[in-house]
Amino acid sequence: MGWALLGAALLLAVYTLLRRGRRRSPPPRTPLRGRTAIVTGGSGGIGAATALELARCGARVVLAARNAPRGEAAARRIRTMCPQETGNPEVLFMQLDLASLRSVRAFASAFLRQEPHLHLLINNAGVSAGGTTEDGFSLSFQVNHLGHFLLTQLLLERLRSCGPSRVVIVASRAHCAGRLRPETLGHPPPPGPLSTFQDYCDSKLANVLHARELATRLRGTQVTCYAVHPGFVNTELFRHAPLWLKPLFLPLVWLFFLDAAEGAQTSLHCATRDGLERFSGRYFADCRLQEPWPPGRDDQLARALWEASERLVGLGRAGGSPSPAPLQ
Ligand SMILES: NC(=O)c1ccc[n+]([C@@H]2O[C@H](COP(=O)([O-])OP(=O)(O)OC[C@H]3O[C@@H](n4cnc5c(N)ncnc54)[C@H](OP(=O)(O)O)[C@@H]3O)[C@@H](O)[C@H]2O)c1
Repeated sequence: MGWALLGAALLLAVYTLLRRGRRRSPPPRTPLRGRTAIVTGGSGGIGAATALELARCGARVVLAARNAPRGEAAARRIRTMCPQETGNPEVLFMQLDLASLRSVRAFASAFLRQEPHLHLLINNAGVSAGGTTEDGFSLSFQVNHLGHFLLTQLLLERLRSCGPSRVVIVASRAHCAGRLRPETLGHPPPPGPLSTFQDYCDSKLANVLHARELATRLRGTQVTCYAVHPGFVNTELFRHAPLWLKPLFLPLVWLFFLDAAEGAQTSLHCATRDGLERFSGRYFADCRLQEPWPPGRDDQLARALWEASERLVGLGRAGGSPSPAPLQ
């Protein structure tokens, strides 16, 4: 028994080392001097790693996050790292709470007043937790989708005028389990870990469909957008998971999960790689174009989600443009 366990542990260790050895090294950096980027949830996890890399490439980077001390500290950390590496002090924090539509509007108007340019919008912030927002929606659904939907609409004109520009929407492979019904969209789920996870999957499906419909509506402009699965990444995303579940997670995290810098690679690929324009609206994972699961290819659902989202965030028809033919 003891030998069998030791053998299994050795096999696992060898597997892990081989797997880590196979991880791809980061691609060459794209110069981004003169470009301005917003990274939502840039205060930690994948967002902080994305912001750091954009700053290393020379972009002016706005970290948009909820928790001011954490956001200020993250911006300071990048500024103090970057002068030695790139001489880029242009990293700043601006407060944005996606769980409050009022805060999204305040952020957008402060940004538009203060910053003349916007070339990259990285809709990265996310939660997987139960609860209801001050606007009466499910917390995960509002932070992950509705708040970003409103933010994107409010910044779209600036993105258009600064084209070529891009929107990257950090979704998840969890979209495969999403079940969206526009008539009950955003309703807070009943308490419990299973319905909280279902709600998370729904919001991630909304992310994939948001990119799809946004691309359709932006056809013919110089703004393109992409949905991204970052991989399974060791971050604080599941900090609200029940305590009993966490020890079960630990070996999985140790064996299979990427670190935050690795998890940022697909977002960075979609934000900076030349020649992706023809793939606007599509889904990327592991820095490659992939097909989303069937619900993520449902153009009728994407359109219904868009219209319901407009209504829920208080944007009329004037906020969007007429819906042309779906993506092929
Ligand atoms: N980790 C994974 O394995 C994985 C897999 C698939 C997809 N993703 C997606 O990747 C994205 C980044 O997640 P992560 O793994 O880096 O998680 P994380 O470490 O928990 O970071 C999430 C970020 O979102 C911010 N945030 C949370 N609620 C917010 C709100 N109400 N308003 C504004 N910002 C808020 C957090 O800021 P605070 O400091 O204020 O909390 C934090 O900066 C998410 O969209 C997630 O769904 C992650």
